[in-house]
Amino acid sequence: MTDRTRRLVLPLAAFLFGLVALGIAAVLTLTPQGREVAASDVGGPFSLVAHDGRPVTHEDFLGEPHLVFFGFTHCPDVCPTKLFEIAETLDAVKERSGRDVKALFVTVDPERDTPEAMRSYVSSFDDRIVGLTGSPEAVDAVVSAYRAFARKVPLDDGDYTMEHTAIVYIMDEEGRFVAGLNTAQAPEDAASELLSRI
Ligand code: NI
Repeated sequence: MTDRTRRLVLPLAAFLFGLVALGIAAVLTLTPQGREVAASDVGGPFSLVAHDGRPVTHEDFLGEPHLVFFGFTHCPDVCPTKLFEIAETLDAVKERSGRDVKALFVTVDPERDTPEAMRSYVSSFDDRIVGLTGSPEAVDAVVSAYRAFARKVPLDDGDYTMEHTAIVYIMDEEGRFVAGLNTAQAPEDAASELLSRI
């Protein structure tokens, strides 16, 4: 694949993977005694570093429903689009309900995404978005806990990109997975969908 093809194909692959994963989550939710992973098993404890350099755990975000999204700051397409949609949705939620809902943006590329890199990246979207990074082991653990997917893909120029799950997770105030949020709709509609779930 040429770089150009890669830039087009990888975000699409990540998006399709997200759709499939969402479909699986939906099916598993409907399975009374799921033989495999139940949607209620999505999420869990984590120990990471916030974009201001503070160590944080899942407990720092309990008590309020919130969104979780995996990605990386070098992402050419999917992440900036999603984070923009999330920011628009959070604005619409605020306008509709007065509520400030947080979104956790967890990097799948801790090698490049230092807290400082995360801080400057998320600040260009919305101050309700919290960038989270950590050791490769800590990031792997949270990716697994959310049944997400992330894979390093070398590029022809010696650089690399990441394929990753592009689901926007709605988590409840106890940190349990509620549903995926479709942000690819008008912000008012995404806000209605989110508010109906939290
Ligand atoms: Ni991305």
